[in-house]
Amino acid sequence: MYKSDPARGAAWRKRFAEEAADIPFHIWPDVGDPAAVEYLVAWQPPDDLFQRFPNLRIVFSIGAGVDQFSLEEFPPAVKLARMLDPGITQGMVEYVTMATLALHRDLPAYLCAQRERRWRALPSKPAHERTVGIMGLGNLGRAVTAQLRGLGFAVRGWSRSAHEIEGVRCYAGHVGLQKFLAGCDILVCMLPLTAATTGILCSKTFALLPPGATLVAAGRGGHLVEEELLSALADGQLAAAVIDVLSDEPPPPTHPFWDHPQIMLTPHIAATTQVDTGCSALLDNIRRHQSGQPILGEVNRLSGY
Ligand code: GLV
Repeated sequence: MYKSDPARGAAWRKRFAEEAADIPFHIWPDVGDPAAVEYLVAWQPPDDLFQRFPNLRIVFSIGAGVDQFSLEEFPPAVKLARMLDPGITQGMVEYVTMATLALHRDLPAYLCAQRERRWRALPSKPAHERTVGIMGLGNLGRAVTAQLRGLGFAVRGWSRSAHEIEGVRCYAGHVGLQKFLAGCDILVCMLPLTAATTGILCSKTFALLPPGATLVAAGRGGHLVEEELLSALADGQLAAAVIDVLSDEPPPPTHPFWDHPQIMLTPHIAATTQVDTGCSALLDNIRRHQSGQPILGEVNRLSGY
């Protein structure tokens, strides 16, 4: 059962017909026999998910994030899986690299200067004198650190649990956060959204960054306390931000981020599941489950990701 964008669903169905003709593929709202549905791949789950599909075995998020599902309501026998699509990883690497370079090279300020017909160079520094701090060191965060190191940036990382990544100074947990933030010129958030990370991009966090630091928000809108970002930009604690995700998407026309000179805003496009690679990842995971192997990307009920 596929429940997401129907136009893309047609491409997924074609792939299944070609490569897995033994697995009937339905596109929401054509559910067929609800009792026959074992696998749901969805962006937003339908209401009454478990009553509607009593024989559900696995819910696959069609994206990397799983915060739209209430895992605590899942019956013990039903698993939830993240989408581990190399196409998402590539998208995230591209987006964060673009945003980091834009902030490193003062693009928000130069775009303002262009609109005001001002031709003036700002002081610059090489990438190795700029530290990028990555929040979230899962497969996306790791891929991004490798790319940014390749560009010469000093890279540090923070996550809930301890990690070791070659060439990256890693910090963990609540105790590591302060030290981590103190050295970040550019802070990149790619965390999963959980109760522990909701609102983590707030004035308290911004105050621990070096003055004039910048922000890339590419996780979920719920990480960011929007008014506290506006205050930090107004008082110079932050110089600029690249924002891909908001609590309310799309934002209303009156939202202050639309025309804020220090904010570059994109419509939640950092990383999109690709039909080709996403379908292969899903199919591989279904085959794993069918043959009794552990599935990839299964969400842990305690950590919520
Ligand atoms: C996009 O936001 C995703 O979760 O893949």
